[in-house]
Amino acid sequence: MKTERVTIFDTTLRDGEQSPGCSMNLEEKLRLARKLESLGVDIIEAGFPIASDGDFAAVKAVAAECRDVTVAALCRTAEPDVIRAAEALRGAAHTRIHTFVATSDIHLEYKLRKTRTEVIEMTRRAVRLARGFAEEIEFSAEDATRSDPDYLCDVFAAAVDEGATILNVPDTVGYTLPNEFAELVRRIRERVAGDRTDIMISVHCHNDLGLAVANSLAAVSAGARQIECTINGIGERAGNASLEEVVMAMRVRADSLPFETNINTREIYSTSQLLSQIISFDVQPNKAIVGRNAFAHEAGIHQHGVISNPLCYEIMTPESVGVTANELVLGKHSGRHALALRYEEMGYTLSRTELDAAYRRFSELADRKKRIYDQDLISFISAELDVPIAVTNREQLAHIAAA
Ligand code: KIV
Ligand code: ZN
Repeated sequence: MKTERVTIFDTTLRDGEQSPGCSMNLEEKLRLARKLESLGVDIIEAGFPIASDGDFAAVKAVAAECRDVTVAALCRTAEPDVIRAAEALRGAAHTRIHTFVATSDIHLEYKLRKTRTEVIEMTRRAVRLARGFAEEIEFSAEDATRSDPDYLCDVFAAAVDEGATILNVPDTVGYTLPNEFAELVRRIRERVAGDRTDIMISVHCHNDLGLAVANSLAAVSAGARQIECTINGIGERAGNASLEEVVMAMRVRADSLPFETNINTREIYSTSQLLSQIISFDVQPNKAIVGRNAFAHEAGIHQHGVISNPLCYEIMTPESVGVTANELVLGKHSGRHALALRYEEMGYTLSRTELDAAYRRFSELADRKKRIYDQDLISFISAELDVPIAVTNREQLAHIAAA
């Protein structure tokens, strides 16, 4: 099977950042942008410049700093929006203006108070204007999945006519289902892109029904070649498709998803940790790929299987996503002292009783399992002793993960 490339468009700094508990200051945005660049994302959506001076400054700073990626700025279709996005991108090495307007009747009637014809005209004007300011123009039809598909295709056709080459299909409210979304993407590809190989279909899925990743992957199977996603799946309401999940699904299941990305998967865990450290919450312990239990095998029967052959219960290695093993430092014969030291390095100072309990669990596991991960160590203290991950520990954890 021929492997095709899927472009990863990261919107952690825009859709992610605009959600509660996720705001970042300029220095934090820059730190994350640099990390995203080394992770290998193709596009960083750095903000929505007309929304605030902070967003404008963030796009400008990321554009000045990140020279190996395309920097995207979001704008509505109004002229001042487009111009503000263009100003923020000035000086970037690779530029993309991402303009959007809603296309569902409910949005047209209650939010925009515009007719369908007016929205087509707004689309045309915005794309035409943006064309003069950036190398690439992406057009998004907000609430695409609740729009009349024929009308949606007409709006996309108008955007293409004016020079947009990336057509983004957002499932803005997280409503669609994988089969239905795949069908919609196929239809847009056939009706709008036709034979044009320079037109790329993109998808942007929200997770209100927990289907953002499944919908994104279904869309790729149907011909989409860009996925918009965020680190740790942060974003409006229930979040966006999580970058680490879509990337690793394509990596692990390349047999049925023959797509490659530019992501250096070994940087996934440290990127996730850096984001958790910057914003005000961590990922859930059982979060796929980056949760602290994602590679911790607790049940005896699982541990036995993993020791005999990791493939019994591991479909990918922790190392492949940058979770490091401690086999040399903390093997079967490691003592209480080494364990306490490792916890200290991770930012936890345990009392004597806590250390005793953790050591008991460590010894039990080390007896059966060759490799003990930081995630295992955290699970000993958080599950058994109910030690929450303190905010002050995050920095050290991220530091360790980045080491
Ligand atoms: O969810 C959405 O529709 C968006 C668009 C601006 C792409 O975030
Ligand atoms: Zn969104």
